Formats: sequence, C-alpha cells, structure tokens
Amino acid sequence: MKIFIDSADVDKIREAWGWGIIDGCTTNPSHVAKTGRKHMEVYREILDIVDGPVSLETISLSAKEIVDEGRALAKLHKNVVVKVPVIREGLMAVKQLNSEGIKTNVTVTFSPLQAMLAAKCGATYISPFVGRLDAIGHNGMDCIKQIRTIYDNYAFETQILTAAVRHPLHVLEAALAGSDVITMAYEVLIQLYDHPLTDIGVDIFLKDWAKVPKA
Ligand code: E4P
Repeated sequence: MKIFIDSADVDKIREAWGWGIIDGCTTNPSHVAKTGRKHMEVYREILDIVDGPVSLETISLSAKEIVDEGRALAKLHKNVVVKVPVIREGLMAVKQLNSEGIKTNVTVTFSPLQAMLAAKCGATYISPFVGRLDAIGHNGMDCIKQIRTIYDNYAFETQILTAAVRHPLHVLEAALAGSDVITMAYEVLIQLYDHPLTDIGVDIFLKDWAKVPKA
C-alpha cells in the first residue's frame, strides 16, 4: 500500500519524506489555510520536496472553471494530481482532464456509488473520507471494502486512496481491505512506528549488551 502524507506543512512533509516511507502527498484548502501562507508558495515547496504524486485541490464549482484550474495546476509540475470534489460538475471536469492526460484525485467521497461514477470518468484516485463517516456513526471501512469489490468486478483502474484517517487501526484495516493508497497526518504516521514491546525489547537488548565482556 502506498503511503501519502496529508498536509500542507512543509516542515512536517520534509521530515516525513526523509524517513523513506512516503510515496506522495495530499493537500486540501483547509491544510493550506492552516499554514497562513500563499497557496502557490506552499505548493511549489511541496513539489520540490516530494518526488511522487502531489494532490492540489481545485476550488471552482463549474466544470469549465475546474478544468481551467486543473490545467493551470498541472502545469506546475509533472507530479501534480488535480484534486476535484465528487460533485456532478467535478466529475464532468475529471472526464475532460483525464482525456488531456491530467491525473485526478476525486475527493470528499462518502459512498461506493460516487466512487463508481468517478471511476467511469477516468479518475486516477478516489478519496473516501473514512474518519468522517465513522464520526457520524457509519463504518468508513465498509465503504473502502465495497469500492474494492466494485472496482475489481469491473476492472476499474482508479486507485482507492483511503483518506480522513484518524488512527493506526484505520491504516491496518485499509491495508487488509486492499486499499491502493492511504493518506494520513504526520501525527498518525508517527503512531505507526510505535510499539511498547519494541521499546521494551530494545531496552532489554541494550542492558544485556552492557553485560557482555568488552575486549
Ligand atoms: C484527503 O485527501 C483529505 O485531505 C483529508 O484526508 C481530509 O480529511 P480530514 O480533514 O477529515 O482529516
């Protein structure tokens, strides 16, 4: 499963990229707003750091304007993936952008049928927001499993990008469900490394090593 970092914080992105486990990055308007910086400045820095797909989100609501925005974003760098909300005009734009060879990430997705429509329009990625579904009493991971089944049934090539991830269990469940990609905050990435038995085990080894005669 490919791992993306979900952030617009260039310091966190740079650090996580250095760990060697990140394949790409997803941003959204809320992440960019949190930085307090100009979006183009942030996008260019991320594209300098991350040598992999970088999703940059459109904010227009009509197909024509989304396409115009998408074309402009795609010109920034070969790694740009144009992120488009799964609204009707958005999917029309995705179809057009796909026909021009521009990669897309269909976002703000909450149902397997939205994912099916996105795949029919040639989306490169589909981003179901599992944590936001869980938050209203639905099972976000069921959505991932159903999309996997639909995509496999009809050999859709759109990649499932599990998003709005809240904790390591989401990562485990997404991997078991066959998600192609997962995107998560820096804080969740760090949690993936943690295991108390590893800390205890390393401590025991170091203490025992101290008892080994030296020379
Ligand atoms: C995904 O690409 C989105 O940026 C992100 O995961 C949104 O989720 P959240 O704001 O609920 O964390």
